[in-house]
Amino acid sequence: MNKPREQWGSKIGFILAAAGSAVGLGNIWRFPYLAGQNGGAAFIFVYIICVIAIGIPVLIAEILIGRTAQKNPVGSFKMLTTSKFYHGIGGMGVVAGFIILSFYSVVAGWTIGYLYEAITGSLLNYEVAAEASNHFFVLTHDPVWNVALLIVFMFLTMGIVYFGVQKGIELGSKIMMPLLFVLLVGLMIYGLTLEGAFKGLDYLFNPDWSKINSDVILAALGQAFFSMSLGMGAMLTYGSYLTKKDNIPASSVWIAFLDTSVAIIAGICIFSVVFATGQSPDVGPSLIFRTLPVVFAKMPGGHYFAIFFFFALSLAALTSTVSLLEVVTAYFVDEKGWKRKNAVVVFGTLVTLLGIPSALSFNALENFKILGKTFFDLTEFISSNLMLPIGGFFIAIFVGWLWGFDKVKELVKEGSEKLFDRLPWLMDFWKIILRFVAPVLIIIVLLSSIGIL
Ligand code: TRP
Repeated sequence: MNKPREQWGSKIGFILAAAGSAVGLGNIWRFPYLAGQNGGAAFIFVYIICVIAIGIPVLIAEILIGRTAQKNPVGSFKMLTTSKFYHGIGGMGVVAGFIILSFYSVVAGWTIGYLYEAITGSLLNYEVAAEASNHFFVLTHDPVWNVALLIVFMFLTMGIVYFGVQKGIELGSKIMMPLLFVLLVGLMIYGLTLEGAFKGLDYLFNPDWSKINSDVILAALGQAFFSMSLGMGAMLTYGSYLTKKDNIPASSVWIAFLDTSVAIIAGICIFSVVFATGQSPDVGPSLIFRTLPVVFAKMPGGHYFAIFFFFALSLAALTSTVSLLEVVTAYFVDEKGWKRKNAVVVFGTLVTLLGIPSALSFNALENFKILGKTFFDLTEFISSNLMLPIGGFFIAIFVGWLWGFDKVKELVKEGSEKLFDRLPWLMDFWKIILRFVAPVLIIIVLLSSIGIL
């Protein structure tokens, strides 16, 4: 009666799905403005160090846990340890997935709203930044617009997860990820042909080392963590659909490479057009929603650029929301014996309901504050700034110290024997990172984000 657990149909399918989880709003919306504000190439350099030194080692650890246990985060820790504490860490991952999905889908909904505005052309009516900002204000102040788009986005997400690992997530990623890549590279090439675009490259790539301080390094590490979908078992869950034949370190490097490339390409796209039309680059989070419409209104071919840009952004967000819902779904399927389709409908609906107060945080509930934060900011803070680093810390500790490193060594070598035969020092490097470097740095990020450091 029990069907065998699902698996990825191909190696590339797994890599694209995991890269799809990683590539999201974090890459196209957040990375470019962080880089722009924090020293350009100097930030990018620090970011890449964080990805290589912390991100990839923790990614390998997460995928390895999932592949070994063949379960969701809770089931995986139940399989691998008797520690109730660690079962709780798995549970926190599932809860984090639920919460992140609820607010992430609100912003993801805006990307669909902007795509619609781009298609109808109403996005291109604003030639000065103040008008575009006002338009953003009007849209996000409309509770119906926010909630409706949240529902649309959750509906799309549920539609993909509903069809399962191979026919939903893998197939969707195999279509959406290449399309996203082609769109972004096309936009980048076009952006670079515009007059003045090279000033944008200069802004993004000219290193200002004086801007690098401990805050910037922590921001880079936090961004690397969020961007690589680490700390709550999303990559663990995707890893649970792998077989022993798959090469985890090589796949992880691919995932990190794709994630970082998309972030940098998005940065080039955005800053080339921002400079070509003389807009100010350092406005922060509102860059893509408030500055870009003005850019699109002014640049040749801006209408099409706008459509393709927001389409790419929606795709990127969708492959990320899918991975978040999959964690929750896998938990109820593996642990509670639910049917996938029922789990998707029930928990997708509950996430949407939790998202409503976040969607209303920009309008009806904007003055409703808990601990000085709107519901959106609060859920974002609890999940991204607390749960992810705590989860990441204990994942590193588990694989580095508690699981038994001799066993871990054998497990990670399955599918990647040649790599470790050729470069045996990689194993020691990985161990040192998991045992010391990652835990210490993650704790520092955590303490600084709650204002203790
Ligand atoms: N990585 C995605 C982004 O950059 C967001 C995301 C998807 C995520 N799944 C996650 C973040 C799991 C943390 C944990 O937009």
